[in-house]
Amino acid sequence: MNSYLPVSRPSFSGKEEEYVLEALRSGWVSSRGPYIDALEQAFAKYCGTRFAIAVSNGTTGLHLAIAAFDIGPGDEVIVPDLTFIATANAVAYTGATPVIVDIEPNTLTMDVAAVRRAITPRTKAIVPVHIYGHPADMDPIRATAKEYGLWVVEDAAEAHGATYKGCRVGGLGDCGVFSFYGNKIITTGEGGMLTTNDSGFNQRARSLRDQAMDLKRRYWHGERGFNYRMTNIQAALGLAQFEQIEQFIARRREIMGWYTENIATSNSVRLNRKADWAESVHWMVCLEDDRFNTASRERFMLALEAEGIESRPYFYPVSAMGVYDSEKNPVAARKSMIGVNLPTYVGLTQQDVARIGKVVNAQLFAVAT
Ligand SMILES: Cc1ncc(COP(=O)(O)O)c(C=O)c1O
Repeated sequence: MNSYLPVSRPSFSGKEEEYVLEALRSGWVSSRGPYIDALEQAFAKYCGTRFAIAVSNGTTGLHLAIAAFDIGPGDEVIVPDLTFIATANAVAYTGATPVIVDIEPNTLTMDVAAVRRAITPRTKAIVPVHIYGHPADMDPIRATAKEYGLWVVEDAAEAHGATYKGCRVGGLGDCGVFSFYGNKIITTGEGGMLTTNDSGFNQRARSLRDQAMDLKRRYWHGERGFNYRMTNIQAALGLAQFEQIEQFIARRREIMGWYTENIATSNSVRLNRKADWAESVHWMVCLEDDRFNTASRERFMLALEAEGIESRPYFYPVSAMGVYDSEKNPVAARKSMIGVNLPTYVGLTQQDVARIGKVVNAQLFAVAT
């Protein structure tokens, strides 16, 4: 009997239990404690940034970042159409308007020409998303931001350890935001991290994260802040995960290689593509078939499910869901319809991928006939 292969599954093969128990026994269960400091320091060093700020999840991290730049009502923030909805929601929580632009078809990341077209006098920031673990094209994004005086907030929720021209994401903009949700490269259950080189931003984001309490006058709050803190228990789990991050990423790259060997690509069938300047961490294996429409892709996914293989459709375009007023974007709409994510997690074996490959090839053949 073949085992069920989910799209994602966390791997706890390091010191997770030891560190979490230690945190419990120490009594430091809330948002102060040595694991938080240790995780923040380790993560900042890893991203090559001066500071890292642990937060309760990636969504609150994005909200905190945008709020810390004093972006609010009347302002606009440019986000890509193909992303998890949190990217746009975080902008809207501040009262600012997310301006949703198309993606480019190769890397699925934001189209810089579309970003430039979307800039208005109200634009305050650009949020490139390193989607499915592949970095956005940061140089032209940074150059555009510099030209127009905009902040750059990297949404690196899915891309811990990915590199752009040899530099790790998270240190390429004014700040970076990571998620530690259970399906991410490393997890704390729920959790996230902000990274930055800017000491002013670091101080302000920390203050807003902690209810904006005055550091010299306890329980005095000079402005409205949030409770977006991570707990020491989560950070204990996170530190144990962080210690394995290089192995996790190496394994994901190996898994991508196995998929490439086992899936028959063609003129219409593609797996993850990557730009020359990027090293992806392959958060998700991405399969696209130009012949898919909504119905045939659904049949394909059901056929995989019947064989004990979970898959998931690409994200719907943010502009398609009616929550935000936006132009429709043709590339995002098309990619969203023809894309499927296949199981991608550290515990996956070469045999598992061979099994998935056989089923995928047979089902793609069925689409063609
Ligand atoms: C691109 C992107 N941005 C933001 C988030 C939000 O992170 P979280 O689920 O930790 O709130 C996620 C993930 O879930 C994501 O994939």
